[in-house]
Amino acid sequence: MILGYDAAGEGPVLMLVHGFPFDRSMWARQLEDLKDIRRCVAVDLRGRGKSAVMAAGEWTIPSYADDVAATIRSLDVGAADVAGLSMGGYVVMALWQRHPELVRSMILIDTRSQEDSPDQKEAREKAAARVRERGTAALVPDLLPKLLARSAPEEVRAEVRRMFEETPGETGAADSLAMRDRPDFTADLTSVSVPALVVHGVDDELVPFDGARQMAELIPGARLVAVPGAGHLSPMENAAAVNAALREFLQEVDAAPG
Ligand code: MLT
Repeated sequence: MILGYDAAGEGPVLMLVHGFPFDRSMWARQLEDLKDIRRCVAVDLRGRGKSAVMAAGEWTIPSYADDVAATIRSLDVGAADVAGLSMGGYVVMALWQRHPELVRSMILIDTRSQEDSPDQKEAREKAAARVRERGTAALVPDLLPKLLARSAPEEVRAEVRRMFEETPGETGAADSLAMRDRPDFTADLTSVSVPALVVHGVDDELVPFDGARQMAELIPGARLVAVPGAGHLSPMENAAAVNAALREFLQEVDAAPG
């Protein structure tokens, strides 16, 4: 399906893919700051926000990637710079596997390439049952403290809570099972032949920093940027540092031959 989105700016498309259980609004600070160099397009993955229609068919990370591909195609721009946070990073890696011709460059933020461990898979099933019954906000007490660095401003905390509350329970459950069943992307990283940037909050409790270091080592020519004063949601928690890293990277992409 073609996804709904917010857009700002002109120029080459920067596609921004949110994490779980968030939506396009998590990228507001990037749209504001980067709109002078990119047409920033922040999508809502299926089942929430501007993509609220409950699409038929599979709800898997590869099908989410197919939705992003359909959306890039609908913009008629050829390939796009594509950034994903956490679950959005899984989607970007699946996009690379399935539709590499649509990826001009790749930005992986607060994410990892490994599949879930057996314990994590079990936890996903419990989370899916819980949110189906009680709504996605039922995850706030367990998950919210792990998402943000202690220093995160109250305004960011409130935005994150709102996104939990607005993600329908059925969607939260489908996301959880999609993440449970996602493939391991580690072996594919060495095949990445477009410019790549890995960005990670140094205080990320949910997805360890070491995984980011490993991804940056495996992707040929990739650069790793450590974001201070940020946990798992670095584009919201330290937007200034993340935006500066994205700007520098995207300007290099523009300057590269070919
Ligand atoms: C996310 O932020 O997208 C999720 O927390 C990722 C995950 O649970 O693996």
